[in-house]
Amino acid sequence: MSFENQLVKWYTINKRDLPWRKNKDPYRVWISEIILQQTRVVQGIKYFNNFIKKFPTVESLSSSEESEVLKMWKGLGYYNRAINLHKSAKEISNSLNGLFPNTYDELIKLKGIGDYTASAISSICFNEYNPVVDGNVLRLLSRYYGIKIPIDSVNGQKGIKEIGKKLINKVNNPGDFNQAMMEYGALLCTPFPDCESCIFSSTCIAFKNNEVEIIPAKSIKKKLKERFLNYLVFIDSEQHTIINKRINKDIWYKLDEFPLIESKAEIKNIIISDEFKKLTSTKFITIKNQKENIYRLKHILSHQILYISFHQILVKDCLESGIHLSELNNYNFPVPLTNFINKLLI
Ligand code: ADE
Repeated sequence: MSFENQLVKWYTINKRDLPWRKNKDPYRVWISEIILQQTRVVQGIKYFNNFIKKFPTVESLSSSEESEVLKMWKGLGYYNRAINLHKSAKEISNSLNGLFPNTYDELIKLKGIGDYTASAISSICFNEYNPVVDGNVLRLLSRYYGIKIPIDSVNGQKGIKEIGKKLINKVNNPGDFNQAMMEYGALLCTPFPDCESCIFSSTCIAFKNNEVEIIPAKSIKKKLKERFLNYLVFIDSEQHTIINKRINKDIWYKLDEFPLIESKAEIKNIIISDEFKKLTSTKFITIKNQKENIYRLKHILSHQILYISFHQILVKDCLESGIHLSELNNYNFPVPLTNFINKLLI
C-alpha cells in the first residue's frame, strides 16, 4: 500500500477523540487550529472547551469585547492570536454577512490566517486539496524521504510543501490526510521516536540510513536576543499598586504590566538608578525607604530570553491612579507576571 493510503488508514483507526473533531464546523476548526499553533493538544483541549463555551459561534465572538477574548487566552501566550481571532470574527459578521469563508483563497484574506490555517480549514471542512505543513509534517516527511535540507529554511519548507501537494492529490479525503500527517508526527514520528513500532520502518529512508537523529536538519541557530525587564511594584499604605497597558507593537501587546524600566544588563539596585529617579519624579511618587524586595526569574520565548526582575517598593503617599492588589487578577498580565502576582502578592 502507498505511503499516503497507509497513513490515512492508520489515522482512521488510531485518531484521538478530540472535541474539534466532533463535526466539521469551520468556526470550531478555526479556533482549534489557532490554539494548536503554539500549544500542545493536551493543554489545548481545556482552552478550546472554555473558549467554545464562552463564544459558541462567530457572532458571539464578534460581539464580545477584546478584553474578554484576551481573558480566555490567559496563560496560552502569543496573544496576537486572540486579537486576530476577534478581528476576523468581526470581519466575518460585519462584512461577510456572518458567512464563514469556505475556500482557501477567501480564508487566507482574514487576519491571523496564513497558509497553514487556510490549508487546514479548507481541507478539513471543505474538502480542498491543500496540504498543511507544520512542525509535525516537516519531521515526518523529511525523515520518510530522507531530506536533509534544513526545515527552518525557505527551501526546506518549499520542498516539503511540494511533496505534500503530490501526496494529497492521491487521496480521497484531503482533510483526513492532513490530520493524519499531523497526528502521526505528534504521536509516533516524534523528536525521539520509537522506530521499531513505526508502520513505515521498512520504507523510511532516515531509518534505513540510520539518520533519524539528524533529520529533520536545522540550520545553525542565531543567538536569542536577551532583554532585561525591571518591573516596579509600587505599594502604598493601602495596598495599592500601579499598572499600565503595553501599547507598543512588541511582545505582550495590549496586556497589562507594572511600570517598566528596560535595561541593557541586570540592575542590582534599581532605586538608585537614574531611570528610576526620572520615572518617580514624573509620576510624583515618593518612596518610603531605600529598601526593595527583589524577585528575579528567567522566561524564554521562541526568539528572546527575558531576564525579569520585580522590585517591590513601598510608597509614602497614596497612589492616586493605583488599584488594590486584590484587583490584580481582573487584569490581563503575561504569564510570568501572573505567576509573580500569584506567588508574592495574593
Ligand atoms: N495539530 C494541529 N492541528 C492538528 C490537527 N487538526 N490534527 C492533529 N494535530 C494537529
